[in-house]
Amino acid sequence: MLELQTLVIYGLALAIPAVYIAYRQLYGSSQAPTLTTQDTAPKPQKSIMQSTRDDLAPPKDDPFTLEQLKAYDGSTPGKPIYVAIKGTIFDVSHKADVYGAGRSYNIFAGKDGSKGLGMSSLDPENAVPDYTGLDEKDRKVLDDWHGFFSKRYNIVGKVVDPEAAPASSL
Ligand code: HEM
Repeated sequence: MLELQTLVIYGLALAIPAVYIAYRQLYGSSQAPTLTTQDTAPKPQKSIMQSTRDDLAPPKDDPFTLEQLKAYDGSTPGKPIYVAIKGTIFDVSHKADVYGAGRSYNIFAGKDGSKGLGMSSLDPENAVPDYTGLDEKDRKVLDDWHGFFSKRYNIVGKVVDPEAAPASSL
């Protein structure tokens, strides 16, 4: 009789956790965190590029020659840094870490380097205003850069030299 009792106790001891585990497998734990749409929705990737700005000043139309533009190449501390694209001059001073003297994109500072931007080239030879030799694909890249800058930097003027404002416009 004792043997039967021991058997029943052992049997229950094994069966109860087994049933519990099976239940958990089938229906999940009541303690499991409830998934919300926030948990399941893909998290937006944080871009390393700057985000767009909504506090830009109204664009200015001040005329600059390419010669005058050279003074804004980031080599003079305290002086603004300008980058021109398709003749539009952008004030990039707040990104001196990128456009300042000796920095990655200083090649485009104090000039109109439209051709190089369109070609995705950092070669100083290509950092020139005349982009008329670019194919359609590179012109699209250039226009995208113009759009990128327009949403992030104040427009302070335009280049008046004819080679910086070729016939085709944006
Ligand atoms: C291995 C190749 C390259 C890498 C790893 C790279 C990386 C980057 C990074 C990290 C930024 C964001 C910089 C910041 O906002 O602090 C940036 C921006 C930029 N890159 Fe590049 N880049 C590369 C090639 C090029 C080339 C070939 C060009 C030539 C057109 C270029 C032009 C630019 C420009 C104009 C910006 C915008 C900077 C701004 O005003 O915010 N990059 N790049």
